[in-house]
Amino acid sequence: MKTIKIFDTTLRDGEQSPGCSMNLAEKIEVAKQLELLKVDIIEAGFAVSSPGDFESVQTIAKTIKDCTVASLSRAVKKDIDASYEALSQAAAPRIHVFLATSPLHMQYKLKMTEEQVLEHIKESVSYARSLVPDVEFSAEDASRSDMAFLAKAVKTAIDAGAKTINLPDTVGYVLPQEMYDMITYMKQNVEGVDEIDLAVHCHNDLGMAVANSLASVGAGATQVECTVNGIGERAGNASLEEIVMAIHTRRALLNADTGINTKQLYRTSRLLSKIIGVSIPPNKAIVGANAFAHESGIHQHGVLAKRETYEIMTPESVGLTTNKMVLGKHSGRHAFDDFLKELGYNLTQEELDTAFAQFKELCDKKKEVTEYDVEALVAQKAAKV
Ligand code: KIV
Ligand code: ZN
Repeated sequence: MKTIKIFDTTLRDGEQSPGCSMNLAEKIEVAKQLELLKVDIIEAGFAVSSPGDFESVQTIAKTIKDCTVASLSRAVKKDIDASYEALSQAAAPRIHVFLATSPLHMQYKLKMTEEQVLEHIKESVSYARSLVPDVEFSAEDASRSDMAFLAKAVKTAIDAGAKTINLPDTVGYVLPQEMYDMITYMKQNVEGVDEIDLAVHCHNDLGMAVANSLASVGAGATQVECTVNGIGERAGNASLEEIVMAIHTRRALLNADTGINTKQLYRTSRLLSKIIGVSIPPNKAIVGANAFAHESGIHQHGVLAKRETYEIMTPESVGLTTNKMVLGKHSGRHAFDDFLKELGYNLTQEELDTAFAQFKELCDKKKEVTEYDVEALVAQKAAKV
């Protein structure tokens, strides 16, 4: 079974999203939690971009010992030098160099020809390699690049010494089949690609970031870049918890898993949410408040009889202590009776019938029925067990 590396960019790409900035102490807290989670690589920031980013890369590099720590750099000496200096105390430093390869970016943003782009990749990657052994090259906007040219860019970066090549879907544009085809094309057309890690970095503009990352893993990508709770530019990046649990839950099909300590997922998600002050939607996969809650009677009955009927993974596996039976108008008598027993009430059949009917009436009046409402209904009627 292959191990897929998890490259977390919550502190770099994630922090670029509006309203998600963090101060130094908060970044250190997140980085320590990412270390507990056992991510393979923490992208701590973009050292050259500001004195604050430089300081956070430097402090995280000093503090974190069990993960590789990366700093982003444009393909220029000044950026690479800043990353190198900020990472000087890292146990395992990685310089992450990027340059765009799509016609749009080369013509309008970089104002460079294809030849100039290849020359810049060669120079910047070999310079970074002269400083550290672990260099990643990202072909920005890879998914909208000409595949034959992208293959040349990938080969140039490999020859210059890059150990990881990342092919981002920078603007979240492509569909899973296209990501699959891009990875397959590189595997079939670039010599040396099997000796390095092929990574993907998907944005969520069309809600495809996780699906695109998984399609890439299916085609042979060995590193996935993602953020906690999927925070990031515009609609965000691929969500770490979804990627990790999708790979873990379907590991037999994918013949792959990650090294993540999944029991730390819930805690990591809540910590980030508290720090940046952005709440998690209740229906968010894996970490939303309703991700392991069952309200409908049919589901509750099924889960009480055998959890796998409606749970494809256990709440314990993501760090929760239990699933949640929510009482509401779709709940059945079985779950209602169970709930009462948990509260310590043992009703006769007749008492249960009356209480259940009153409970259903109450459900039509209230959005959420709490255990206090249920206690109020039955307290007069029954003695505690
Ligand atoms: O989305 C992107 O292309 C990036 C690169 C800098 C890796 O964030
Ligand atoms: Zn990005």
